Amino acid sequence: APGSPALTPPLGWNSWNSFGCNGVNEQVIRDAADTMVSSGMRDAGYEYVVVDDCWFDPERAADGSLRAHPEKFPSGMKALGDYIHSRGLKFGIYQVPTERTCAQGGGTFPGSTGSMGHETQDARTFASWGVDYLKYDWCSGAGTRDEQIARFSIMRDALRATGRDIVYSINSNSYHAPTGDKYNWGEVADMWRTTEDLLDIWQSDNVNSYPMGVGNVLDVTAPLAAQAGPGHWNDPDMLVVGRPGLTLTESRSHFALWALMGAPLMAGNDIRTMSADVSAVLRNERLLAVNQDTLGAGGRRVRDDGNTEVFAKPLSDGSVAVGLLNRGASTTRISTTAAETGLAGASFTLTDLWTGATSSTGGQLSADVPAHGTAVYRVTGGTPLQNTTSRWRGESSGRC
Ligand code: GLA
Repeated sequence: APGSPALTPPLGWNSWNSFGCNGVNEQVIRDAADTMVSSGMRDAGYEYVVVDDCWFDPERAADGSLRAHPEKFPSGMKALGDYIHSRGLKFGIYQVPTERTCAQGGGTFPGSTGSMGHETQDARTFASWGVDYLKYDWCSGAGTRDEQIARFSIMRDALRATGRDIVYSINSNSYHAPTGDKYNWGEVADMWRTTEDLLDIWQSDNVNSYPMGVGNVLDVTAPLAAQAGPGHWNDPDMLVVGRPGLTLTESRSHFALWALMGAPLMAGNDIRTMSADVSAVLRNERLLAVNQDTLGAGGRRVRDDGNTEVFAKPLSDGSVAVGLLNRGASTTRISTTAAETGLAGASFTLTDLWTGATSSTGGQLSADVPAHGTAVYRVTGGTPLQNTTSRWRGESSGRC
């Protein structure tokens, strides 16, 4: 949104995918913050530690203010924020613009403590706790688009009025099949969900309904690439990298594709117990640099041959990051050209973003990509083609 603290996609960790409602508590969050430091994730750029649903007392205080759940967060949210800040990280929290959070609406958590009618008070409470990121999730009841814009804007304004930089991450929950939510929320929020929850599956037969996997969320979000830019990001949901339902190859593909889309990268695995391989995927400095590039362009699908696809994300130095995705069941050679990815020129350097190895090419780019794999390269040495990159730049920065 205008004036956003999220000039590049937010990087962090969120409790939901591994701890859900019942498993979240202050020890889990402190351990996650500690692990962000000890694993090297913080040094790689990860910043936000986000406490998702079910952190609150099911009853507001007599003065109407929100309180921490007395058993799950006995030290309180201010102390938790202080702990996170003391580790050089930032503090994120979850709330809804309606009456009940998703867990309350679904009956897995008691009470009805949503922010509806309490926006100013809740924004002040969050600021007083040192909150740096709010995930604001439309739950318990459908709203018209106008109602949603109005309610999401009330909290945007309440957050701004606190004077604190707070990333505003929303979920309209109105993207359901068949059309999805194509609304560009860039004037309202810093990032907005584009699909139903992403689960740790590669691909389901669904178009845009639960349960969705990596391929499904990619298919809905990739066409929205032009909306991405500094301060306004498509959010294809938190990462399932390292979750049990994905192979390592699939986790690597998912991470590369989310990096190329310019997506916020919020790890959702249990980082306390992750393998060295998974940790290395999350900390890949070359892919993180592509994701955090200051141009903020969303990667576009420039070729779709069915099971194989090519994605290209223009970068601020005039190079292009290219992904070659194999959705099929066996290793396949995937080819593109520098021109197809938006570059003119006669000789280029290719950097393999997985290995760091470099090679030269006159313009051809090919790789043998394993089943469900994604090869990723940075192509340097060319000149951005007017009819592609300049248009992408114009679209991606036009709203700011
Ligand atoms: C919704 C959101 C999830 C998570 C849960 C919490 O399903 O999409 O990301 O926040 O609510 O209940």
